[in-house]
Amino acid sequence: MTVRKKSKRKAEFGDFQTPIELARDVCSVLLQHGMEPVSILEPTCGKGSFILAALELLPTVRNIAGIDINSEHIEVACSSVEKSAPAGVSTRIVSEDFFAVNWHDVLGSLPDPLLVIGNPPWITNAELGRIGGCNLPDKSNFQNHRGIDAITGNSNFDISEWMLNKAIEWLSGREAMLAMLCKTAVARKVLRCAWKSGQHLKKSKLFHIDTARYFGAAVDACLLIVTASASNGNFDCQVYGSLKAACPTVTFGYRQGRLVADITRFENCRHFEGKERYKWRSGIKHDCAKVMEFRKEIAGYRNGCGELVDLEDDYLYPMFKSSGIANGCDQRATRWMLVPQRIVGENTRQIRQSAPKTWQYLQTHAQLLDRRASSVYRDRPRFSVFGVGDYSFAPWKVGISGFYKKLDFNVVSPYGKKPVVLDDTCYFLACKTREEAVFIAELLNSDIAKDFFSAFVFWDEKRPITVRLLKRLDLLVLARELGMEETMQGFLDQYPRNYDQPLLFSGSSFSS
Ligand SMILES: C[S@@+](CC[C@H](N)C(=O)[O-])C[C@H]1O[C@@H](n2cnc3c(N)ncnc32)[C@H](O)[C@@H]1O
Repeated sequence: MTVRKKSKRKAEFGDFQTPIELARDVCSVLLQHGMEPVSILEPTCGKGSFILAALELLPTVRNIAGIDINSEHIEVACSSVEKSAPAGVSTRIVSEDFFAVNWHDVLGSLPDPLLVIGNPPWITNAELGRIGGCNLPDKSNFQNHRGIDAITGNSNFDISEWMLNKAIEWLSGREAMLAMLCKTAVARKVLRCAWKSGQHLKKSKLFHIDTARYFGAAVDACLLIVTASASNGNFDCQVYGSLKAACPTVTFGYRQGRLVADITRFENCRHFEGKERYKWRSGIKHDCAKVMEFRKEIAGYRNGCGELVDLEDDYLYPMFKSSGIANGCDQRATRWMLVPQRIVGENTRQIRQSAPKTWQYLQTHAQLLDRRASSVYRDRPRFSVFGVGDYSFAPWKVGISGFYKKLDFNVVSPYGKKPVVLDDTCYFLACKTREEAVFIAELLNSDIAKDFFSAFVFWDEKRPITVRLLKRLDLLVLARELGMEETMQGFLDQYPRNYDQPLLFSGSSFSS
């Protein structure tokens, strides 16, 4: 096999074997938590690190089942296990595809207490698609994802997520425990799925692991331990800083149909959850920074292709990206954005008359703009942008970065006579006046608001701050608590309707 083929195969099958040292550390944690399994099942056992560590450290084990798709790994696993398994321990280590195994039969052959242990492959269906791999379950029925989710990318899932969901189902009605390594975000999704579907879990624990040390990779990953319960379910998961940590640092859980990052904070602040009084907005999405973003120079505007261009001012706006917002908005905007529409779907052909140089510029770069892959531009006027409305041009804004890992809300002031627009990595509230923006920023930066948001934020996520999070806080209830209800009500009474619900262009105006 060529080196290229080998590395494709390694990626497709998430083939990164667990070092025996880590497998031993995991088994030591299980021992400390009183796990005394009679059977162990390693559903993607590879060369068998976990089986070997369990044989070394868990003396009660009598039955072992190990499965892996890679027959060379299975040969290695069989020969090592043969050498270390004491007499009286039955082993069945075979090469099979997880997605084709008759799990009913395998599980039926393993008496309780059962431990399902291992490290399933870490790869997403999107990555698989990119490398042309097909190590997948039947995607059509994965948690009923289809339609809009497929478009927005929500249907992107990790293969290990699918395997872990299955493995947790196996625990049902048994005296059993699962202990698996996986990405931290996957562990949360899997727990959420189990909690949502009403599976009875007695205890769930998540131990962060040092992936740089064990795998030489910078991924947020953990050991997830789940114990099954015959009767009542528990909806909490204790989080430990490392495998050696004696006490949990925080407990996350499932409350009122969603994940809560810190249940203690949530219980203290839940009464601030309520109506979205001001509408949270995303910045403008254009997916073509090379053409749509500029730096202003004395002689004109320089775009991302390095070209110095002469454009009318009409469609150009000073802008901030996440970094600008996160660094505080008191510095001057250094970039400018070409915003060809004031509202989603607006006909762009009018630019030809109103700003001929801008029209010519767009025509010259049409190829790059036409190539934008996102489906939000499909069947829209040529050169369309997204997430644009009257609110985008509000003179004052209170903004936050969706990418930066801090809860800092900044006032965005106009620049000269122009409102500053934000890109789609930011979220904001539109305000009419400076007083209003300063007041709202003060509320959002209060300790109470930060505590409230912290109850829901998982900081290891790629985009920890989302509109879904921000809109949960009821600003009026918060203002009441801070003794500022009257001022808040005053601003709400004057809140422009067009910041709330942008007019949508009728079907006929969508033609280009
Ligand atoms: C991250 S490695 C871990 C291996 C082993 N569990 C360990 O901890 O050392 C993932 C393993 O999953 C196996 N695998 C990937 N896809 C599989 C499938 N569809 N069925 C069975 N095994 C699979 C790979 O061959 C690889 O050995």
